[in-house]
Amino acid sequence: MKKIACIGTGYVGLVSGVMFASIGHNVICIDTDPTKIKQLSAGECTIYEKDLEKYLSDAILNDRIEFSMSYEDIKDISAVFICVGTPPGPDGKANLSYVIDSVLEAANIISDQAIIVIKSTVTPGTCKKLQAMLEEKGCKHKIASNPEFLREGSAVADFQSPDRIVFGGDEFSLNVLHEIYKPLIDEGVKTVETDVTTSELIKHASNSFLAVKLSYINEMANLCEKIGADVETLSLGMGLDKRIGSQFLKSGPGFGGSCFPKDTLALSNLSRDLGVNASVLDAAIDSNLKRYELMKDKISSICADNKNLAILGAAFKAGTDDVRESPAVNIIELLVSDGFKLKIYDPVALENFMKLNIKHASPATSLVDACIGADAIVILTEWEEFAKIDLAKIAEIVSLKVIIDLRKVIKAEEAKKHGFKYYTIGQTNDA
Ligand code: UGA
Repeated sequence: MKKIACIGTGYVGLVSGVMFASIGHNVICIDTDPTKIKQLSAGECTIYEKDLEKYLSDAILNDRIEFSMSYEDIKDISAVFICVGTPPGPDGKANLSYVIDSVLEAANIISDQAIIVIKSTVTPGTCKKLQAMLEEKGCKHKIASNPEFLREGSAVADFQSPDRIVFGGDEFSLNVLHEIYKPLIDEGVKTVETDVTTSELIKHASNSFLAVKLSYINEMANLCEKIGADVETLSLGMGLDKRIGSQFLKSGPGFGGSCFPKDTLALSNLSRDLGVNASVLDAAIDSNLKRYELMKDKISSICADNKNLAILGAAFKAGTDDVRESPAVNIIELLVSDGFKLKIYDPVALENFMKLNIKHASPATSLVDACIGADAIVILTEWEEFAKIDLAKIAEIVSLKVIIDLRKVIKAEEAKKHGFKYYTIGQTNDA
């Protein structure tokens, strides 16, 4: 059992901290936000993540986790995980100032033997620069890299049984990280142990590869619509080939979230800066940006002058309240600028969506409420609740009886049975 610290209680820091506590470590989480510290100390989760609150309560009950605003409290730890945000700047490059500040502040407090582990997603090459910065200041601490591969909505399960754990660093740091993750390694989880830069690149290259896969299948969906093929069956047929794999082959309104758009841009910028051609990645980014416009055009052409829409979904995917870089939000903004008036319903992300203050996009209290006065229904996030929609009831409310399902959550046959015209993506059996 180790005493470890997580700096930042955002998505990465909170999940990591709570889950490190769940495998037996003593954890201290640091954040500058007093409200968060108060809430978390009381066992209240500050993000929506399945099962996390239960693990948080257990950790508090077993005295395995503490929350604090003071770096003084991390004096005697053996590893500090930097989990602060790296938001994209106006040039698309990740802003590393929070990472740098927290590394310097931690280095001032912790013992020379304690390692500093970068968990935040940083541009490949950052750890080396941070190490040089510390050395210049006379600090002896070792910088290590341990990128996270948790998905929002399934982060707890992803922590417990990851496909792999990636560490980068010198021999000493790798040993410390090995000990921290020992409970998972003993259960057979594979590790990749390498230098810091390769570790950083594994993270970016993995997210970018998945993004490329998504843009590819989304373009295949466009082709399916033109030639009368079915993208669902296409994905199935491709995905059964083990070399391709079935995951991340579900076509949709485009990829989003706080990671893929940012990480793809960062890798593209890094390649450009180093004179390396990244045309595959650039095409995937461009294709995804164009996809939002394409989705808006599709909705516009189906609805014509019927401008009142029930929008189901604001989160960037199901299982999260996160609306950052959400395809739903991007499409909503385009619809509004095209003169549509929208009523938005999302089971958990509505509060975050309303903070964006988008004109002509008002909140609905329920799925049914969103449909009242609507000409058509547009599904933008794949919440299970939307799959269970009471079509008979909704059919009496919506004037046009049109469903545009960009996430394929409703069965076309069911919709048609209730008199709806059903439109989705990657199929020609619309209407
Ligand atoms: C992603 C990675 O999957 C995680 O491994 C990584 O740790 C995380 O980024 C990160 O860098 O922190 P996440 O952003 O939670 O996780 O979301 P994903 O589940 O990967 O979905 C990303 C986007 O792709 C969403 O908009 C989703 O709707 C879309 N998607 C995903 C599809 O359209 N189709 C699919 O088949 C899969």
